Amino acid sequence: MKALITGITGQDGSYLAEHLLSLGYEVHGLVRRIALEDPERRFTRISHLLDRIQLHAASLESYPSIFAVVSRHEFDECYHLAAQSFVAESFADGFSTMNTNINGTHYMLAALRELRPQCRFYFAGSSEMFGLVQETPQRETTPFHPRSPYGISKVAGFDLTRNYREAYGMFAASGILFNHEGPRRGFEFVTRKITSTVARIKAGQANELQLGNLEARRDWGHSKDYVRAMYLMLQQETPDDFVVASGDSHTVREFCELAFAEVGLDYRDYVRIDERFYRPAEVEALIGDSTKARTVLGWQPTYTFSEIVREMVQNDLKMILGQNQPLSEAVSEAR
Ligand code: NAP
Ligand code: GDD
Repeated sequence: MKALITGITGQDGSYLAEHLLSLGYEVHGLVRRIALEDPERRFTRISHLLDRIQLHAASLESYPSIFAVVSRHEFDECYHLAAQSFVAESFADGFSTMNTNINGTHYMLAALRELRPQCRFYFAGSSEMFGLVQETPQRETTPFHPRSPYGISKVAGFDLTRNYREAYGMFAASGILFNHEGPRRGFEFVTRKITSTVARIKAGQANELQLGNLEARRDWGHSKDYVRAMYLMLQQETPDDFVVASGDSHTVREFCELAFAEVGLDYRDYVRIDERFYRPAEVEALIGDSTKARTVLGWQPTYTFSEIVREMVQNDLKMILGQNQPLSEAVSEAR
C-alpha cells in the first residue's frame, strides 16, 4: 500500500508516518520546497524516518505542483493533514489561512479526482468547527458554528470533502478531531507552551509563564492515539465522518496545575495573565462524543489526561537538561 501524507513534518504527520510504516506501507510525504532546503530545522519530527519515507516538494498554494506529485505515483491512500493549524494566527492573517486551508484541500481533491479517483482521501477536520457549541457533548450531527478564520476554513474543507464523496463517488472521509497533543506538539499551542515553560522554570531559565484565557475547556487526547483513528477511517467499506475525542474535558488552568505539580511547583506562583493571548472570539468549551468511532471503527484512546501532561513535561525536562534542542529559542518564538 502506498500512502501520501501532506503535513508529514507536523505533529500528526510524523506519528501517522510511523504508524503506516509499522503496517508495511510505502510512505510518501508532501513538503514545502523550503523544507527540503533547511532539513535540520524543518524535519526535526521526521529526522529518524528520512531513510524510510519518500518526500516530494509541492506547495499547497499551487495546483500544478500538487498535480505533478499525484501524477507520478499510484497512491492508494492520501491523508491530507497540511494546514495553517494555529487558531490565533488565523486571526492575525485570515487571508493566508483561508487560502492555504481551503484551496489546498480543494487542489488535493481535484488532483486525485482527475488522476487517481480510487485513492482514498482523509481530511483533517477539527472540533474548532463546532466553535460556539450548539450542544454538549459534540457529535457528528452537532451543527457547526466556527469562531475563527481557521474554524471557517475547516468547515469549508469538510464540505468540500463531503461534496467530492457525494458528487464524484470518491472515498473521501473526514475526521472531526478534538485537541490532541504529545511531545511533538508545536510550541505555540497552549499545552506545549505550558510544559516547555515549566521545564525552563525548573531549570532556572525562566521565572514566569504568560497566558490568556485560563478557563477555556478542551477535550485533550494524544496524537499517537488519534492517528490510528485516521488510518481506521480509510479502512472502512464506505466513506464517512467521525468524531474522535477522549470524552474528558479540562480547563487550561487544570493543565497548568498538573504540569507545575509534576515538577513540585505551584502554578499560581508563576502564571501571569496577559491580554495579548486572548482571542477576539473564543471557543469556550469543547467535549466530544466519539461513540460512533468507538463502535464502528473499534477505536479507543489509550492515554489519560494526566499521562499526557506527565509525558510532555518529562520530555521537555529531558530536552532542556540534555540540551537536545534550543528550547529557549523555540519558546520565545511561540505565541
Ligand atoms: P502541525 O503540527 O501544525 O502541522 C501542520 C503541517 O502542515 C506541517 O507539516 C506544515 O509544514 C504543514 N503546512 C502548513 N502550511 C503549509 C503550506 N502552506 N504548504 C504545505 N504544508 C503546510 O499540525 P498537527 O497538529 O499535526 O495537525 C495536523 C492537521 O490536523 C492540521 O490540518 C490541523 O489543522 C488538524 N487538526 C489538528 C488537531 C490537533 O489538536 N493537533 C485537531 C484537529 C485538527 P511545515 O512543517 O513546513 O510548516
Ligand atoms: N496558544 C495559546 N497560547 N492558547 C492559550 C493561551 C496561550 O498563551 N492562553 C490560553 N489559551 C487558550 C486558548 O484561548 C484556547 O482556548 C486554548 O488555550 C487552546 O489553545 P491552543 O492550544 O492554541 O489550541 P486550539 O484549541 O485553539 O486549537 C487546537 O485544537 C484544534 C482542535 O480543537 C489546534 O491544534 C487546531 O489546529 C485544532 O483544530
